[in-house]
Amino acid sequence: MATIRKLLQARQEKVVDTGNKVTVVGVGQVGMATVFSLLTQGVTNNIALVDMNADKLKGEMMDLQHGSAFLCNANIQAGTDYAITENSQICVIAAGVRQQEGEDRRNLVQRNVEVLKGIVPKLLKYSPNAILLIASNPVDVLTYVTWKISGLPKHRVIGSGTNLDSGRFRYLLSQKLSIAPTSCHAYIIGEHGDSSVPVWSSVNIAGVRLRDLNEDIGLESDDENWKETHAQVVQSAYEVIKLKGYTSWAIGLSLTQIIKAILTNATSVHAVTTCVQGEHGITDEVFLSLPCVLGRNGVLDVIRQPLTDTERQQVFHSATLMAELQAKIKF
Ligand code: 2OP
Repeated sequence: MATIRKLLQARQEKVVDTGNKVTVVGVGQVGMATVFSLLTQGVTNNIALVDMNADKLKGEMMDLQHGSAFLCNANIQAGTDYAITENSQICVIAAGVRQQEGEDRRNLVQRNVEVLKGIVPKLLKYSPNAILLIASNPVDVLTYVTWKISGLPKHRVIGSGTNLDSGRFRYLLSQKLSIAPTSCHAYIIGEHGDSSVPVWSSVNIAGVRLRDLNEDIGLESDDENWKETHAQVVQSAYEVIKLKGYTSWAIGLSLTQIIKAILTNATSVHAVTTCVQGEHGITDEVFLSLPCVLGRNGVLDVIRQPLTDTERQQVFHSATLMAELQAKIKF
């Protein structure tokens, strides 16, 4: 166009691929909360959105693009065709059915297995080197299913897992202690949700373990009833779903933290879903959350936490539940 030629004297081709492309499959509440948080935190400025609902997809894309003046060189694409996802570093799967009020995450499994079968091969066709990050529920079993369908090495298939539960736990501890959640060091491991395991033995503030101040902390015998804090974590999603119909902001922030750790090769530790066979006496090939070191290649290491007998039994119980659920899946 003549006007452009008068304005610009081109010196070189413009770079399009900034090397930090993230695809999000599923533009529901979780997918969009994640995208918004990724863009506003500057974790990536290169996003591809995929969904089956073309109108919703276009609406979300346009709405975000209209925010470009407030972002940094955002490249937001959307389409029902997976070709737009080409060359993604990370593909987030937030598609599928979600819990209804009072519904257990595990109840969604077979319906979401069918959804994954349609998504995973198409993502890999266009981004064979990507890391797959699963957010759909039940996230632990669906991470296993994605690993099976994809044929990828285990370290490249990660579930959002108990990073969110750990965040909720740290928030509730922060309220009790009047200390910032970022300074409440605590992990929830195992299943994301109902059988999750609070690692009370390592909860600490500045290295001071609460277990050393109250040897019964988190146990039935604890007269201060700290175990109620974990019960509240387990109830969190049910309560939010009852009140607003779905959860979105906290999981979006949790996924953003995980994506940032991977894209920046942070080697930071997060409780995410990974294969736990061989850890804590687990022999089944199941996926659950343990603290993992995350970097550009996905899971770099699993942290071997010294657990108490009670904690180990609880993780083992989560693993047994996952193995039972996995055995029922029809591929
Ligand atoms: C959550 O815990 C529903 O798994 C989702 O927020």
